[in-house]
Amino acid sequence: MPSEEPMPSETTTATAIRLDGVDLSLGSGAARVHILKGVSLAIAQGEAVGLVGPSGSGKSSLLMVLAGLERADAGRVEVAGEQLTGLDEDSLARFRGRHVGIVFQAFHLIPTMTAVENVAVPLELAGRADAFARAAAELTAVGLGHRLDHYPSQLSGGEQQRVAVARALAPEPRILVADEPTGNLDEATGRQIMDLLFDAQARRGATLVIVTHDATLAARCDRTVRLRSGAVETGETLGALAGAGHESRA
Ligand SMILES: Nc1ncnc2c1ncn2[C@@H]1O[C@H](COP(=O)(O)OP(=O)(O)OP(=O)(O)O)[C@@H](O)[C@H]1O
Ligand SMILES: [Mg+2]
Repeated sequence: MPSEEPMPSETTTATAIRLDGVDLSLGSGAARVHILKGVSLAIAQGEAVGLVGPSGSGKSSLLMVLAGLERADAGRVEVAGEQLTGLDEDSLARFRGRHVGIVFQAFHLIPTMTAVENVAVPLELAGRADAFARAAAELTAVGLGHRLDHYPSQLSGGEQQRVAVARALAPEPRILVADEPTGNLDEATGRQIMDLLFDAQARRGATLVIVTHDATLAARCDRTVRLRSGAVETGETLGALAGAGHESRA
C-alpha cells in the first residue's frame, strides 16, 4: 500500500461499503423469492473481499445490491459515501457511473462495437472529453494495445474479459465488483484476469468485491464473506462490523 494511504486503523479506515439489515426479494407472484435476509456487512476502502457460498445462496444478488443494480426492499445500503436506499433509477445510474466498475462472468461486451468503442462509449456518455485516448490507454495497460479495433467476436475469451476489465477500470471507480470473472476462462487466462483486478486494488486503492467458487481466487482476497441461504454466516458479520476485519488479517 502506498505511503500516502491512511493507516488501516479502526479509527481512520474509511468504510467503502456498509449494509445494514438488507432484504431483497425478486420475481413476482408465485415466482417471488426472498433472496437476501437481513444482510449486514462492512467493507473498508481498499479491501479485497471474496464473496463465497453455495449456488443460490444470493452472492450475485448481493453484488447487484451493492453495485446499485438492484434496490434493497429494506435496510440501509451505503456505498462510496452515498446512501443508495431510496435513490431512483436515474440517480442509481449516476452513482454507478461515478463509483462502480463491474465485471461479469459472461463479459457483456457490446458485439457491434470495437474494443476501444466498448471502453470509450461509457466514458463519452459520462462526459469525458478524452474518452478515446483514455480507452486506448486502459486497453494498452491490459495488454490489448494491438487489438483496439477488433470486435468482440474477433477476440479470445480472455481478451474479451480484458476489454471488460479495461471498461470497468477506465472511469477510475472506487468500487470494483466482479461476479465469477474467471468462470469462463482456463486457469492460466483466469490468473491473468485476477492479476489485473488485484493490481487495480493495490495500485489504485480500489475496493474489490469478487464472487467466486474458486478457492485460489478467494485465498488471494484479504478475507472472505460466506453467504448461506441469503444471510451472512454468523461470526463473519460480527468480524465485519467490528472494523472490517482489515487489520487482523493483513
Ligand atoms: N430475478 C429473479 N427472480 C426470482 N428469483 C431469483 C431472481 N434472481 C435470482 N433469484 C433466486 O435467488 C436465489 C439467489 O440467486 P443468486 O443468483 O444471487 O445466487 P448465487 O449465490 O449467485 O448462485 P450461483 O453460485 O449459482 O451463481 C436463487 O435461488 C435464484 O433462483
Ligand atoms: Mg451467481
